[in-house]
Amino acid sequence: MADLDDLREGSNFEIGMAAGQQEYHVKGGANLPWGMKDRLSRIFNPKTGRTVMLAFDHGFIMGPTSGLERIDLSIIPLIEYADCLMCTRGILQSVIPPNTNKPICLRSDAGTTILTELNDNVLIDIEDVIRMNVSAMAVMLSIGDPVFEAKTVANLYKAVDMGSRYNIPVMGVTAVGKQMTRDARYFGLASRICAENGANIVKTYYCEGFEKVAAACPVPVVIAGGKKLPEKEALELCYKAINDGASGVDMGRNVFQSTSPAAMIQAVHAVVHNNLTPEQAYELFKEAGS
Ligand code: 5RP
Repeated sequence: MADLDDLREGSNFEIGMAAGQQEYHVKGGANLPWGMKDRLSRIFNPKTGRTVMLAFDHGFIMGPTSGLERIDLSIIPLIEYADCLMCTRGILQSVIPPNTNKPICLRSDAGTTILTELNDNVLIDIEDVIRMNVSAMAVMLSIGDPVFEAKTVANLYKAVDMGSRYNIPVMGVTAVGKQMTRDARYFGLASRICAENGANIVKTYYCEGFEKVAAACPVPVVIAGGKKLPEKEALELCYKAINDGASGVDMGRNVFQSTSPAAMIQAVHAVVHNNLTPEQAYELFKEAGS
């Protein structure tokens, strides 16, 4: 039995004072259940509402690409600067130390590689997602692809159904096929379709007119970095995306293929969370890398 000695009766009920109102910092998330909100709050910093996700899932289609030959050597030193890690379950279980305690956005679909047709993907089992304590599942959508569009939309739909059962958010990742125009109309359409089908986060690319893409998407949009750019240009890309309404970045090559990856992720972090200009962030990059 609990110790009842000196059990004090409550007296501080503040009768007449309204219950505290709680605000939620993730776009479109106010009506989600507690578990979803908790997981999204691990990814999106409650102070800024933004995130720096580090993407290193590229190997699932392209093997040991430049910068990811030895994830134990190249990525592990960057983990402390990332808000969230995006990777495959194979790398998570074999290379990422569980005591880093960072939220994981798990690449949750796979099926083909760069050697064949991309996007003919199937989904991971939700039980494995739960076992790995994942904070979000990432699923690719190939909008406009005459062969794989329906299959990838169905994958997102199933992921959202499974995720809703256990309060695990889903990130829709908009693929870009060779035949698709990389403009605001296309990315706006693809992003909105992700959100309409239940994605809690959308990952897409920055483009001219991105403010319309972000405005018309009812959940947070994070941008991929795309191919490696000179560091100053990559920081400009981050700055413009954040200014135009992105809630963060999910960046890979522009970090891990940088001449100084640790300095680069710190500079990206400063743009995303501290609103540094690209010039200020580039100075930080040079200082941190020296
Ligand atoms: C592709 C992905 C990759 O993780 C992502 O695009 C890689 O990021 P980056 O373009 O910045 O290297 O989701 O589907």
